[in-house]
Amino acid sequence: MNINTNYDNLEQSYLFSTIAKRVNDYIAKNPDKKVIRLGIGDVTLPLCKTVTDALHKAVDEMGVQSTFRGYGPEQGYDFLREAVQGYYKKHNVDIELDEIFISDGAKSDLGNILDLFAKDNVVLVPDPVYPVYVDTNIMAGREVKFIDANGENEFLPLPDKSVKADIIYICSPNNPTGAVYNKAQLKEWVDYALSNKAIILFDSAYECFISDENLPRSIYEIEGAKDCAIEFCSLSKTAGFTGTRCGYTIVPKNLGKLNKMWVRRQTTKFNGVPYIVQRGAEAVFTDEGQKEIKVNIAYYKENAKTISDTLNECGIWHVGGKHSPYIWLKCPNDMKSWEFFDYLLNNAQIVGTPGSGFGKNGEGYFRLTSFGSKENTVEAMERFKRLFK
Ligand code: MLT
Repeated sequence: MNINTNYDNLEQSYLFSTIAKRVNDYIAKNPDKKVIRLGIGDVTLPLCKTVTDALHKAVDEMGVQSTFRGYGPEQGYDFLREAVQGYYKKHNVDIELDEIFISDGAKSDLGNILDLFAKDNVVLVPDPVYPVYVDTNIMAGREVKFIDANGENEFLPLPDKSVKADIIYICSPNNPTGAVYNKAQLKEWVDYALSNKAIILFDSAYECFISDENLPRSIYEIEGAKDCAIEFCSLSKTAGFTGTRCGYTIVPKNLGKLNKMWVRRQTTKFNGVPYIVQRGAEAVFTDEGQKEIKVNIAYYKENAKTISDTLNECGIWHVGGKHSPYIWLKCPNDMKSWEFFDYLLNNAQIVGTPGSGFGKNGEGYFRLTSFGSKENTVEAMERFKRLFK
């Protein structure tokens, strides 16, 4: 037996596991301190009522012979695919039913999709970046090239035509920076991908935070994107499904064999998302569900404003937070990312995410999330002001 030695090229542990360990060590040593977690992008508000009603109903169905269901379609039930199709339609994007694949979340499919691509493809990712894009390619032994996202390009890098790439990752609204591409900028990426015969893996997990109708929520709002992009979305941040697990992936049929290959991959390696969860997900897309999730999103956006206002008061440079749950800030007093992490934890018991964990360009930056409770966010920002105002 030979092991996959590509794993030797990974960081020793996944970023959020490293943070959790450090925080747990701190709590073990300081049990009387109240730690406020604004690190991992995990939601805190419960599922909305329309969703839990649908979940309960589905549970009951599963306990009755006539409505019980066993294995479902690997690509998802039509009732949910139709709901997703309707959601895209609202944003003027036409997707065919058999281009929609229900998943257990964007993270899994972003990793799984790599089954479709040969090892010798060159991968292009922005730096800083969600670590999953890089790590899943390192695990497969693929070459990864980086494109710099930094203060100069407002953390929205555009294609460099001199760089040849086959697989391109774009996340907008961005994790970790919260920056959002406009349509003209995304069009540059689509044109670049088309001219390179490359594929864009577009992560739109944070689309529901966009409040400006002119900003694209889906890459398919851009002409030509169906010929060069796969889109991944999730109900984790949209509707609080981080623990419930449901998302969707769009593989357009214009992409030649890829749609059929993905069907083959999923039918072989996946048995679908549980029926009960899919009924809960379906409820998200109803009028009532949409109304309720918007209340939750507004709550998180208010937290983002609290954080952003505090940083302004303290004179700390930052981006994001407007169309995104993430705020990306420059560490005060020229601290390095992990130095600032320790400083905040020890002096204010606030947990954030060190920017350097997202890549070399993240060094000296830090990410805060607005997914905490309002009370905790306000308290954290009071503590923050005591240190930096
Ligand atoms: C994050 O904090 O970056 C997110 O929670 C990552 C994820 O959704 O997996």
